[in-house]
Amino acid sequence: MLEQRSLIGPKDFTLEELDELFKLTEQIEHDKDFLRESCRGKLLATLFFEPSTRTRLSFEAAMLRLGGSCLGFAEPASSSAAKGESLADTIRVVSAYADLIVMRNPKEGAALLAKRYSQVPVINAGDGGHHHPTQTLTDLVTIKQLVGRFNGIKVGFCGDLKFGRTVHSLTEALARYPDVELFFISPDELGVPSYITNELKVSNIQYTETDRLEKVIGELDVLYMTRVQRERFLNEGEYLRLKDSYILTAEKMKGAKERMIILHPLPRVNEIDIELDADPRAAYFKQAEYGMYVRMALIACTLGAFKPSVL
Ligand code: CP
Repeated sequence: MLEQRSLIGPKDFTLEELDELFKLTEQIEHDKDFLRESCRGKLLATLFFEPSTRTRLSFEAAMLRLGGSCLGFAEPASSSAAKGESLADTIRVVSAYADLIVMRNPKEGAALLAKRYSQVPVINAGDGGHHHPTQTLTDLVTIKQLVGRFNGIKVGFCGDLKFGRTVHSLTEALARYPDVELFFISPDELGVPSYITNELKVSNIQYTETDRLEKVIGELDVLYMTRVQRERFLNEGEYLRLKDSYILTAEKMKGAKERMIILHPLPRVNEIDIELDADPRAAYFKQAEYGMYVRMALIACTLGAFKPSVL
């Protein structure tokens, strides 16, 4: 049962629950009016303490398409956080106004803290460089739809793997499926954190770390490109030195499988050449679209507007 459940980390739902959620997502994709009006009278609060285009707007679009309403803020400057109000107090108050809270915050662990003080479910829309579980739902749905399976797939993560919360969440989620193999492609300074690789070792997941995309691209079923995130660097010079470490071009794609898909959580800055947008393997805009469908499914299940057999 996902009803009245919070979503804070990428493994909060069982594989069975995920499967049901993805089936509902597929149903919504094929019939966009399937759950129309199912959330009439319900309120979604979107509390964004960091910038967002996709996550906030897809959640709001999802709620509006389900017949519900939205309130919230897109930047902390327009909330009482700017006057020094604590996150705990903000959440106590907003959870008395809304039926569901979606929150993005620059502090790691902020979503867990919010859950503790909320009367209603909290969905983590990104907590610093830690996790982004609804991006993971989006990524998994896209892989399921376009690759057709999780078991035995080979996924390469390329770019900023140190601060990239979408990478951390998707890695942990994929490690639950059998025979998955992971490739981490980054400069040394932006390598995947040891808490992630330690977990992979415990789960017996095979992984490779390299700084050479060309070396491994031919093996991959999915290439997950990421942006080097200026906002996470303390030193601007270090950011400028690393920002263009990897730029995916048509030339580099010559070494990839014909059916490999390119994913990117977006926003893109310079890491995928725009000429690749026309390549049938470029799936990042489709991925962003799936993000809205899976968030519709998530909201409907969390608010009890839809009750599949397992959920
Ligand atoms: N993928 C993602 O989180 O995008 P936004 O920062 O635009 O929400």
